[in-house]
Amino acid sequence: MNIPKLIQLNKIGEPTLGYISVVENNENIPFEIKRVYWTYFTPNLVERGAHAHKKLQQLIVAVSGIIDFTLIDSKGNKTNYVLDNPDIGLYIPNGYWREIRFSHSAVLLCLASEKYDENDYIRSLNEFIKNE
Ligand code: TYD
Repeated sequence: MNIPKLIQLNKIGEPTLGYISVVENNENIPFEIKRVYWTYFTPNLVERGAHAHKKLQQLIVAVSGIIDFTLIDSKGNKTNYVLDNPDIGLYIPNGYWREIRFSHSAVLLCLASEKYDENDYIRSLNEFIKNE
């Protein structure tokens, strides 16, 4: 069964030159990437997310700043993940509710297993807990 996990990405470089981290299809993530999006300029008092996905799997990287995820499973169990380093990815399988908070000027990069489909979203927590 797929469960959320933090994935240590490779980090190529050294402090005097800077770094490159890389993700390749089906290499260090368990799905094929069909979409990439990023979010930015999110005010740090705003909480985003508040949905689950029926099918979509994601790898999330805080390429800048600190991003705080609360993931809730179908039984209501909550786990918190802090992304505070661009060499860490958070794998989120389908079927997890998420609530997301951002530090000032954080940039969230998402590698996604599906193209955008509003019908893949569950936007009611009651419906999510009840339906799973
Ligand atoms: P949403 O996934 O609800 O963002 P968040 O969880 O960060 O609050 O998306 C916000 C809006 O952007 C929503 O109207 C759908 C739209 N959107 C797209 O059109 N394509 C995409 O790939 C994504 C991720 C969102």
